[in-house]
Amino acid sequence: MTILVTGGAGFIGANFVLDWLSAGGEPVVNLDKLTYAGNLANLASVSADPRHHFVQGDIADQAAVESLLATHRPRAIVHFAAESHVDRSIHGPGDFIQTNVVGTFRLLEAARGHWQSLPSGEREAFRFLHVSTDEVYGTLAETDPAFSESTAYAPNSPYSASKAASDHLVRAWHHTYGLPVLTTNCSNNYGPFQFPEKLIPLMIANALEGKPLPVYGDGGQVRDWLFVGDHCEAIRTVLARGRPGEVYNVGGNAEKRNLEVVHALCDALQALRPRDGGYRDLVAFVADRPGHDRRYAIDARKIRDELGWSPRESFASGLARTLRWYLANAEWVAQVRSGEYRRWIERNYEKRVPR
Ligand code: NAD
Ligand code: DAU
Repeated sequence: MTILVTGGAGFIGANFVLDWLSAGGEPVVNLDKLTYAGNLANLASVSADPRHHFVQGDIADQAAVESLLATHRPRAIVHFAAESHVDRSIHGPGDFIQTNVVGTFRLLEAARGHWQSLPSGEREAFRFLHVSTDEVYGTLAETDPAFSESTAYAPNSPYSASKAASDHLVRAWHHTYGLPVLTTNCSNNYGPFQFPEKLIPLMIANALEGKPLPVYGDGGQVRDWLFVGDHCEAIRTVLARGRPGEVYNVGGNAEKRNLEVVHALCDALQALRPRDGGYRDLVAFVADRPGHDRRYAIDARKIRDELGWSPRESFASGLARTLRWYLANAEWVAQVRSGEYRRWIERNYEKRVPR
């Protein structure tokens, strides 16, 4: 038995593959296009493991996916592959529509053909798990209740609109064709191997070089933070015990304002790698993200009550683990910050005038 993971060379996908194999899971076929966000160095520790089979390819290449499915006959597909960065979706939405919408459509079609070809016992056991985001629900005011699985969709960025579209396709393939799908909508992840375009690793990398820490707008936006290892465990739980056709919200019980996150990071870094005067004075308020969602919050009672999953890490313990990982992996950071990364930083930050 095998499982097919898409996007398993990215941040969450690679963490998932490593967790899955170390927990004794079945062999993994890992399909990843290796965009700027995909990095085989994330998988270095399993490069010689015969249970990990990496294939460079595009989820939108339906014939290639069909051939992979026919060869490996996976019992499940765990779908991480996506364009994932909101700021990039504002600069260039085309890739988001292509991968997140068209790519998911083609993957679903290939999965449907594979599923229909399976003998009845295997058909019943087959699962397509779609990894999605809390951003599909839009934005909350300070006192609004957290997003539940029945909150109406109201995506506000090209990224979240493309993820919302993919969620609807996944839902429809279950409702219309009976494909046994599961969808998880998760809050902000952080942890090892996160590409330093996202808030936490970007701030760590800048702080260590004494560069400004660019906080968008007033820094009062709220996100819920989930340590990536907890997310991987939630996905394993939903895959094992989730009910086909159901949606599960996944959160870290850690709502924080962005400025609070940056300050916590500065203070934790000061304890590990002291800097004269500390790191907080590097904070620089810069022009806001267009259409910036003010607050996300997750009501994760369904996955807790039905499947018994809750996050293990607090924000403080997860942040400390993350900082220690980035400090111990300076070479990984240097490698991913060369080339394309530099062009992105110029594009996103140079025209952001300080507030
Ligand atoms: P990431 O950007 O770090 O990695 C995405 C991976 O997908 C990369 O390895 C990339 O090469 C691959 N990929 C992109 N286009 C592809 C294509 N057409 N075919 C095959 N592979 C392709 O993303 P991430 O942060 O690890 O997010 C993984 C998934 O989780 C995404 O679906 C994202 O929407 C979702 N998600 C992320 C977060 C978060 O905080 N990072 C939170 C909730 C949900
Ligand atoms: O909520 C889940 C989502 O979390 C995922 O679906 C996305 O794939 C993931 O990228 C993440 O989206 P965000 O936009 O919330 O994450 P990001 O790390 O880009 O930003 C977090 C917050 O920090 C957000 O309010 C914007 C702010 N920010 C971000 C950057 C990169 C800054 O203030 N300065 C920055 O330089």
